[in-house]
Amino acid sequence: RDKLEAYNTVDDAVALIAKSKKILVLTGAGVSTSCGIPDFRSPTGLYARLKEEHWELDDPQQMFDLPYFKEKPNVFYSFAKEIYPSNFVPSPCHRFVKMLENNEKLLRNYTQNIDGLFEQIGVKRMLNCHGSFATASCLRCRTKFPGSAIEADVFASRVPLCPLCTAIDEEKAKNAPPPKKSPEKWSANSKAFEDDDEDEMGFVSEWEGKPLVKPDIVFFGEMLSDEFDHRLLEDREEVDLLIVIGTSLRVSPVSQIVSHLPHSIPQILINRDPVGHANFDIVLLGDGDTIVKHLCSKLGDSFNLPAPPVP
Ligand code: OAD
Repeated sequence: RDKLEAYNTVDDAVALIAKSKKILVLTGAGVSTSCGIPDFRSPTGLYARLKEEHWELDDPQQMFDLPYFKEKPNVFYSFAKEIYPSNFVPSPCHRFVKMLENNEKLLRNYTQNIDGLFEQIGVKRMLNCHGSFATASCLRCRTKFPGSAIEADVFASRVPLCPLCTAIDEEKAKNAPPPKKSPEKWSANSKAFEDDDEDEMGFVSEWEGKPLVKPDIVFFGEMLSDEFDHRLLEDREEVDLLIVIGTSLRVSPVSQIVSHLPHSIPQILINRDPVGHANFDIVLLGDGDTIVKHLCSKLGDSFNLPAPPVP
């Protein structure tokens, strides 16, 4: 069938939500902008700000890039407190997803957000596709720590190092014999000797070899959790409606969820800006909060948004 002609009005969206029982919701930063958290790619978003400010990144996405983090973790940790989950109040969009769950219609909410606001409103059937600050891991030994272990470092703009690896390094350093240096090599060709330690860019980071601890938010260059793949395999068999809210769908593999679902599944987009590269059945453009409130008012009493939690 020609999906775009089959459904295209707000009433169609209301009818689909009313009849569906396994709704897969895919959310992005646009559901949290009304809470005061900027999105990434809007003109007022985080990436525009990172370009304007003093960060000297070649590309603002480097702030969340794994190779760059390994080289200059101090840059991320100078900035991390600004994206650390704080006392924000969930928006009507967060409450809309909770309302779907209360009505036993939510198959799962796949969120790219790391602000913890869906957890705060009590959504259970959800997946943090891009991880969260709830835990942090040592990039060397992979030990996982509770997020609280690095909280003070985040707020002090300090790079946390793994205490376990640091203890081992200190022990090794104590027992190590003094380094053997060839006097001829040093004096005759000290530049060549230094070059042995340099990477191919001719630069050695002061953080090289240090046991860096990174919050378990997914950076560019990292895989998503196995749970993402497993859940998606299961959910694609069950889903009967997809609702995408507040995302530019520019980051893979989350953006691929849309094309990964069976083509017979109706797809609704609720977003401020059009998402040109995806073909939705119903596109509701505008402020997400206004749109979901309108949908709820048309759906009837049992679809009222739950109250926001008291901060
Ligand atoms: P983007 O900033 O790319 O997109 C946010 C979308 O939300 C835009 O299309 C806006 O039009 C829309 N939007 C903003 N405010 C809105 C509102 N009040 N109502 C409706 N729509 C609104 O953010 P994401 O798509 O979430 O990943 O970005 C995906 C990933 O890119 C992030 O998780 C992050 C980032 O790099 C990592 O850092 C790994």
